[in-house]
Amino acid sequence: MNSLAGKRIVLGVSGGIAAYKAVEVCRRLMDAGAYVIPVLTKGATRFVGRATFDALASERTQMSLFDEDDPIPHTTLGQTADCVVVAPATARVIGAYAAGISSDLLTATLIATRAPVVVCPAMHTEMWEHPAVAGNIATLVERGVHIVGPESGRLAGGDEGAGRLSSPDDIVAGVTRVLGAGSGLRDMAGLSVVVTAGGTREPIDPVRYIGNHSSGKQGYAFAEEAAGRGAEVTIVSTVDRPGPSGATVVRVDTAEEMAAATMAAAADADVVVMAAAVADFRPTDPAGVKLKKRDGVPAIQLEPTPDILAALGASKPQGQVLIGFAAETCDVADNAAAKLNGKGADYIVANDVTAENAGFAHDTNEVLVLASDGRAHSIGLRSKRQVAQAVLDLVVADRDGRADVR
Ligand code: C5P
Repeated sequence: MNSLAGKRIVLGVSGGIAAYKAVEVCRRLMDAGAYVIPVLTKGATRFVGRATFDALASERTQMSLFDEDDPIPHTTLGQTADCVVVAPATARVIGAYAAGISSDLLTATLIATRAPVVVCPAMHTEMWEHPAVAGNIATLVERGVHIVGPESGRLAGGDEGAGRLSSPDDIVAGVTRVLGAGSGLRDMAGLSVVVTAGGTREPIDPVRYIGNHSSGKQGYAFAEEAAGRGAEVTIVSTVDRPGPSGATVVRVDTAEEMAAATMAAAADADVVVMAAAVADFRPTDPAGVKLKKRDGVPAIQLEPTPDILAALGASKPQGQVLIGFAAETCDVADNAAAKLNGKGADYIVANDVTAENAGFAHDTNEVLVLASDGRAHSIGLRSKRQVAQAVLDLVVADRDGRADVR
């Protein structure tokens, strides 16, 4: 597999215990055909020796801003790289990069480069969840830096939690995707994908409605990602926003309209992404004319709307992948698991809409993906497009491995 053939990659390794795993990342990048230049921080060498990288990589390891042969190694590295990957990225390196502080060769190279950067954080859960680190990650995401991981699992010292470096396979897949973006990673070509987006509006009278804060951004990010990967996309949307080139947009307002449009479009779809925030209740009998203040406070009787996801789950064609969403304010994992079972979905993408920088209207999101086979994937804070990318990666991988797909 030479997916990275001809790509010049600076592999930055900073000083966390996960530095030993960077050796495997280096090897996998080389296996994928990349030209790899290791850049280690001083801290990294406390965990792994530079000789190991010297032996494996395309060039000798670099560590110093003051090289005898090249007076400006950081600009040379930054300018000639096709991609800079930092694995593991410690809180220090993430903080320095976000703040624009270049105190060693790695941080100087990060600031000197215009190539895409993939940051793979690894640290203890307390550090990963510290508001300073979360804020720095959000800053990097806003600037277009790609974040891979971290995973949840066993950490140094026997602790468990979020903060473990992503697997070398996931890191190499992330780099491949980043370098493939725009040049045609078309692993969804031939698939038909239906995405719902936005929040429904249930009329109280001709001027008022019951609505919610959904912006449609996560749904559109799914549509854009799927279209970018070659899928034929239909967006059933409550938002006045054009879809990606080639996509069909069906504009709806109410849950009832969304149900009709989605059920029709989903009949032949390979993947259905129910990202819309659909009202659960609507006024039973909306007034035909505007309610007047002078008539006093109205009593609004509500009735349930059709549950589109449950209906899709009940009539799902063989091989179709159905993805539901759970916008929660507490007990995210339990509520999501209940939804997964109750609605017949293959995946539930759950988020805590009260979390900082995640959920409604933000450009970033942080989600837990539960699969019907019991697997759980926690996708740390990143852009909504990157969340879509990570979820569709799971879908594509599952379809590749499933016998019942069409
Ligand atoms: O049960 P809850 O509304 O929290 O479930 C959320 C998921 O169900 C979302 O994927 C949403 O699009 C979908 N849903 C639906 N029809 C409804 C309510 C929610 O399809 N009436």
